[in-house]
Amino acid sequence: MCGIIGYIGGNNAVPAIIDGLKKLEYRGYDSSGIAINIDDKLVIEKKEGRIINLENSLDVNLYSNIGIGHTRWATHGEPSEVNAHPHFSTDKSIAVIHNGIIENYLEIKKWLESENVRFVSETDTEVIAHLISYNYNGDLEEAVTESLKRLRGAYALGVISKDEPDKIIAVRKDSPLVIGLGEGENFIASDVPAILKNTKNVVYLDNDDMAILTKDEVVIYNGNGDRVEKDIETIEWDMEAAEKGGYPHFTIKEINEQPDGIQKVIDRRINDSGKIVLDGINLTKKDIEKLSRIYIVACGTSYHAGLVGKYVIEKFTKLPVQVEIGSEFRYKDPLIDENTLIITVSQSGETLDTLQSLRIAKEQGARIMSIVNVVGSSIARESDDVFYTWAGPEIGVASTKAFTTQMLTFYLIALFMADEINTIEKEKYNEIVNEIKKIPNSIQNILNDNEKIYEIAKKQFNNEKIFFIGRGLDVEISYEASLKLKEISYINSQAIAAGELKHGTIALIEKETLVVAIATQDRLYEKMLSNIKEVKARKGSILSIAKIHNKEIDDISDYRISIPDTLDILTPLLSIVPMQLFAYYMSVLRGNDVDKPRNLAKSVTVE
Ligand code: AGP
Repeated sequence: MCGIIGYIGGNNAVPAIIDGLKKLEYRGYDSSGIAINIDDKLVIEKKEGRIINLENSLDVNLYSNIGIGHTRWATHGEPSEVNAHPHFSTDKSIAVIHNGIIENYLEIKKWLESENVRFVSETDTEVIAHLISYNYNGDLEEAVTESLKRLRGAYALGVISKDEPDKIIAVRKDSPLVIGLGEGENFIASDVPAILKNTKNVVYLDNDDMAILTKDEVVIYNGNGDRVEKDIETIEWDMEAAEKGGYPHFTIKEINEQPDGIQKVIDRRINDSGKIVLDGINLTKKDIEKLSRIYIVACGTSYHAGLVGKYVIEKFTKLPVQVEIGSEFRYKDPLIDENTLIITVSQSGETLDTLQSLRIAKEQGARIMSIVNVVGSSIARESDDVFYTWAGPEIGVASTKAFTTQMLTFYLIALFMADEINTIEKEKYNEIVNEIKKIPNSIQNILNDNEKIYEIAKKQFNNEKIFFIGRGLDVEISYEASLKLKEISYINSQAIAAGELKHGTIALIEKETLVVAIATQDRLYEKMLSNIKEVKARKGSILSIAKIHNKEIDDISDYRISIPDTLDILTPLLSIVPMQLFAYYMSVLRGNDVDKPRNLAKSVTVE
C-alpha cells in the first residue's frame, strides 16, 4: 500500500514530511516524493528507491509551511521516478498524492488527452491531477468535488495548489486516511505512525469525507456536502505497535487483512454482471485450445497455492496441469515447447529458484504467466502476462494473505479459461462466482472465532510433533498448514494424505500425538471419519476442521474448529485461515519471533 503524509503549519513542512515517510516505510514501497509550496510555486522532487535517495536530493535550506509526501507501492506502471507521486498538472499548479486504485482511469485519460492534456507517467493517479486542474476555476474545493464525481475506485488523496497556499484538501474513499491535529499545525496521513511523533490527537475520515486543512483549523464535509464534526481519538499506541495497526505482529495483522485482500481481487476481477475480467491479460480461446501442457512452478507456500491451482484448472478446463517445485523443475529437462504455458507463482517475485525456472522455460519458447504480489518484481517483469494479487505488502516472513489471494487468482483464471473453451456450464460458473463473493465475509467469521483457536493452542503449544491429514483439496491445505506451523513455531510437523496414514506413517502415532484432521470435503467426509477413528484407536488426539453443519465429527474429536459452509472446491480459501491462526498462536506461546522466524528470509533470492 502507498503511504501518504501532508503538513500545514507554522514549522517547516519538509522535515515533518520526510520523517513521516520514514515512519511509513514498513508498508513497503519502491519510490517516494514530496511537493511543497515556495513563494506560490510548487517545488516537486521524486526519487526511485529508498527515502534516503529523496532526502539526499533535497536542498538542506528548503523551507515551506505546506507540503505533501508519498511512498509508492506500484500498482499501475513500473517503479520509477516518473511514476512516483506527487503527480501534478502540466503547469504544476496542482499536486496530488494518492493511495488506492482508480478503476476507470483509462477512460478519463483518453478524454483528457482528447482535450490536449499531455501525460508523462503510466499511473492512474496522474489523471486526478489533470482532472482537478481542468476543473479549477479559482476554488480548489470545488475543483476537487467536481473531479471526484468522475472517479471510480478506491482513493485516499492529498491535494495542494500553488494558487491556494494556505490549505491542503484530503479525501477518503475505501483507502484509509487520518487527520492529525496539532497546535498551529495539522497533518494528513494514510496511517497513524506517520504523525505520532507530532500529535496523538487524530480524526479518522469516513468514506466520501473531504477535509480542508489550514494551519489552525480542519473542516470536514461528508459525501453530501454537509459539514460534520468528528470525534477526536487519542492514540494510546507506541510507535512500534502503530506500524502494525495496533496488532502485536505483522503476521496477525496480515492474517486479519485477508477479507479485505480477497474483496479487492473480487472487486477488480469480477465485474458487475458477474463476469471474470482479467484486465491486461490476453488469453484467448485460441491460445487456450492450442495449449499442449500447463506447468505451475513455485516454491514453499506459493507451491501449495499451485497445488490448489492444478486441482481447479483441471476440474474446470479438463486441461492437464503439472505442479513443479522451482528448485527441481529447472534440473528436470522439462518437456517444453511453444504450446506450453508456465504459470509461476511468487509473493515476492524474486525467488531465484522460481525465476531461473521461468528463464529456462522462456528460452525454450514457453508462454510465461505469473501470479505475483510485488509489482515490478523480476518475475513480473520477465513474464508475458502478470496477475497481481494486490494483497499489499506482506511483511511477516510467513506468507498468509498472499497465499489466499494467490489461490483466489487461480480460481478466477480457471473459471475464465473454462468459460472461454466452454467446459463449464453457465449456471455452474455463476454458482461458483456467487459463492466466491461470500468468501470475504466467511473468512471474517472465522477470524472472529480466534479466541477458540487460541484456547486450543494454549493446550498444545508444548507439543513437539504434530501431523496434518486430509483428503482431496484438504491434502493441499494440510501441506500449507504444516509449513505455517513449522516455520513460525519450530514444531516438527508433517502433512500426509489421510488415506496414506495406514501405509506407514501411522506407526508414529502414539498416545496424545496431535493430528489435525482437515475434513471439509463433503464427498470424502465419511472416509475422513474413518481415518480419524484410526488415529483415535492409537490414542492420538484429534483437532478437526470441518464445515459448520458437520456434527458427527465432534464425537471423535478432542478439539473442533468450524468453517462456514461453501462449495467443496472453495474450502481451501477458508480452511487455511484457522490453520494460520493456530500456527500464529503456537508461535507466540512459544515465545518465538513470529514476524522474523529463525533461519528464514522473506524472499529467498539465493539457490
Ligand atoms: C511462506 O510462508 C514461506 N515464507 C516460503 O515458503 C515462501 O512461500 C517461499 O519462499 C516462496 O516465496 P515467494 O512466494 O516470494 O516466491
